[in-house]
Amino acid sequence: MTMLNKPVGIIGTGSYVPEKVLTNADLETMVDTSDAWIQERTGIKERRIAPEGVNASDMATEAAKKALEAAKLTAEDIDCIIVATLTGDMAIPSTACLVQANLGATKAAAFDLSAACSGYVYSLITASSYINAGLFKNVLVIGVEVLSRVVNWEDRNTCVLFGDGAGAAVVSTVEAGYGMLGMDMGADGSGGMHLCIPSGGTALPPTTERREEGLTFIHMNGQEVYKFAVKTMGKTVLKALEMANMKVDELDFFIPHQANTRIIKSAADRLHLTEDKVFINLPKYGNTSAASIAIALDEAVRAGQLQKGDNLAVAGFGAGLTWASLVMKWC
Ligand code: ACO
Repeated sequence: MTMLNKPVGIIGTGSYVPEKVLTNADLETMVDTSDAWIQERTGIKERRIAPEGVNASDMATEAAKKALEAAKLTAEDIDCIIVATLTGDMAIPSTACLVQANLGATKAAAFDLSAACSGYVYSLITASSYINAGLFKNVLVIGVEVLSRVVNWEDRNTCVLFGDGAGAAVVSTVEAGYGMLGMDMGADGSGGMHLCIPSGGTALPPTTERREEGLTFIHMNGQEVYKFAVKTMGKTVLKALEMANMKVDELDFFIPHQANTRIIKSAADRLHLTEDKVFINLPKYGNTSAASIAIALDEAVRAGQLQKGDNLAVAGFGAGLTWASLVMKWC
């Protein structure tokens, strides 16, 4: 089984992170935590925080402009915009529609995709399928989060983990033999309540009382999510490799969701990947959910760490619970 009938791949990437840095030392003054605990348990040293007035659509637009420039396309060339996010500007319109207006991508369809930290990989797979089906030529995929606005800054279990940022990619047809080769995506809704924001949707609309109870913030059963992540990360990559008809030792580069270095190392061990093949920027940004792989991919590309012909795997896991991975030959 092959993933696509025609070669489809990423032809340009971009990213944007806000300037403001919140260090572990800063957090020590806010909650009962320590730099040593955070680094030892997560690998995170600092994270970026979007200032008031800068929203998901703003950061997404900046990342998208850079991806378009790298792809040597204009906004008018884009047929569809998919924004993966759990912290969009508002319920309606979608953040993708706001980005479409900001860019002037007047020919593009636009919608948001909800799969939390797996959202960017879900969106890349969705974009590739549209192009493969002949519906669109160029699809702009963006992962963006302003998690600082849904984090309870008094809860040390969660506030040390997350950060803000955006990453984008232009997906299009590519040279034969390159692009997406294998994928895996899935969900286990029975574990949904392990990582949730209870109030803010229509089940529990946000009220003053619910805000005061902290129900509009991220609630996480860290150990359950940890177990799920360790179990899932290696497995999903192996499935995508199988579809790509590729052996683990043929992989040149792995970009995992940046949530926790212990989770990343356990996935890398399972895949027998040496450290030099695994991209980690988690210490600088924390967990930026749907933006994490998108930012990491852009940084790897701009640092020249990915070369044409390299076999790349990306893999995400997150709320839902969801997971997704993609294997591609970099073009
Ligand atoms: N500083 C100091 N102590 C802390 C902190 C903190 N920031 N947070 C928790 N602790 C304490 C706990 O209260 C607990 O204390 P106790 O033993 O006295 O009760 C102790 O540290 C150990 O807590 P654990 O939860 O067992 O710590 P663990 O080793 O599991 O690490 C962590 C916690 C880092 C959250 C880990 O479970 C993890 O990474 N889980 C996965 C989280 C994840 O990836 N989430 C994102 C998914 S992506 C998405 O969709 C958004």
